[in-house]
Amino acid sequence: MPAGERFLCPADKIILNAAHAANILIPYSCRGGQCGSCLGRVLTGRIHYPNGLPQAISDSQDRAGYALFCSALAVSDLTIELVRPNL
Ligand code: FES
Repeated sequence: MPAGERFLCPADKIILNAAHAANILIPYSCRGGQCGSCLGRVLTGRIHYPNGLPQAISDSQDRAGYALFCSALAVSDLTIELVRPNL
């Protein structure tokens, strides 16, 4: 996702799905919180996991602001960034 991209995310729509609907690609694979492909960081704002903390994110990552966008709802306006895997 290029810097500065914006998209609307209704409160009842998963962030990954809202981004894709706006033609903004967030990487993904399982769409179920199990693979970590959609890992990113929430720089500002708050998210919520309607089904609880997904399997592919640890408590410490969650506390540090990391998020799995395939499983999260936006609770407020957000600023997010994607996490690129180490190559
Ligand atoms: S796409 Fe697999 S954890 Fe999000």
